[in-house]
Amino acid sequence: MCATTVTNEPCYEKKRALLIFGSPHADGPTARLLAALETALPPGTIVDRFDCFAQPVLPCNDCRACRRLDRCVRPDLDGFYLLLERADFLVFATPVYNLSFPAPLKAVIDRMQRYWSARFIRGVRPPIAKKKQAVLLTAAGTDGPEGGELLERQLRPVLTILNASLAAAVHYTGADSGREMAPSLERAASAGRMLYAPQNP
Ligand SMILES: Cc1cc2nc3c(=O)[nH]c(=O)nc-3n(C[C@H](O)[C@H](O)[C@H](O)COP(=O)(O)O)c2cc1C
Repeated sequence: MCATTVTNEPCYEKKRALLIFGSPHADGPTARLLAALETALPPGTIVDRFDCFAQPVLPCNDCRACRRLDRCVRPDLDGFYLLLERADFLVFATPVYNLSFPAPLKAVIDRMQRYWSARFIRGVRPPIAKKKQAVLLTAAGTDGPEGGELLERQLRPVLTILNASLAAAVHYTGADSGREMAPSLERAASAGRMLYAPQNP
């Protein structure tokens, strides 16, 4: 039970959101989508952020150490893994680069391999104890939907090893011709609000 129960106000236990930002631009369409979602999170949400372009991310080199160890032997993402494991919500915000993720975010995603090894080599079920809801926000230069859809397709199997399910995806297209962003920003905000809906406790 939480303290607001007696006032009949909505009761939100403190939740942690990890925002994984995959754009090099602090004020581009990807950043705007993420800001719209973040603003819609209720006050009190603990927000952590990992900016993939802010530091070099080593790629997974398939050394296979995580097949016997419960960690990655490359130390650069140690802090990130802690944030990831304790998060209730994961938000991936990314531009589409060549129908895929920008290289630094792709490196972060490949580094989830340690959880794949935990699950499928060492038989740990689930490899991350805390269940999560995930949101994918994409920004594509062209008009077609295929860029965002391909990213969604790539992300879904990774989410399963993170004990996460995709609660919402927002694909903004036409960025390079300046398409109106308002509808996509509203969808991103709805995704932020939906993470707290009763069916997503
Ligand atoms: C290296 C590179 C590759 C790109 N590849 C694609 C692509 O495959 N499809 C597409 O729709 N847009 C592509 N774009 C355009 C970006 O997705 C688009 O400009 C996006 O709005 C950038 O968002 P941001 O400014 O928030 O990072 C590419 C841009 C770059 C720099």
